[in-house]
Amino acid sequence: MRTSAPSQPGGGIAADDTVAISLHINGELRHVLTDRRATLLDTLRERLALTGTKKGCDRGECGACTVHIDGRRVLACLALAVMAEGREVITIEGVTPADGLHPVQASFIEHDALQCGYCTPGQVMSAIACIREGRATSDDEIREFMSGNLCRCSAYPQIVAAVRAAAAGA
Ligand code: FES
Ligand code: FES
Repeated sequence: MRTSAPSQPGGGIAADDTVAISLHINGELRHVLTDRRATLLDTLRERLALTGTKKGCDRGECGACTVHIDGRRVLACLALAVMAEGREVITIEGVTPADGLHPVQASFIEHDALQCGYCTPGQVMSAIACIREGRATSDDEIREFMSGNLCRCSAYPQIVAAVRAAAAGA
């Protein structure tokens, strides 16, 4: 469902360009009012209190905002929230079981694959997809297919080890 405030006369952008949208997020249908120009990232964080998805660069360079849409990795800072209607959005909150950790999260802890932790939700979301895509069969492949996720703390060797171990089911 989508409704919106009326456009300004002459086709300009209305001061209040709010739309009501319905998003399938982490297995739930969520109804939210958001600006039609809002990114999925801002809508998740500011409107839906799903703050596990992080804002690093806000311009598609760091991977901190990685979520899954219909099973594929997407940078939420480059996607409009309205474009996610009718699709299945999974955030870091959606992969974390209520009673524990996803195996990839556990592997990150086991391998000390973080320092400040700011990039970690995005790294985990990319790692889950990387493994599911069958792109974690060697260290070089992991580096290549995780290359969109930057870590300012430079925990890369541990991240690769964590992904490798999770892919092996260790
Ligand atoms: S915040 Fe989206 S890629 Fe950096
Ligand atoms: S752990 Fe600090 S940015 Fe990656």
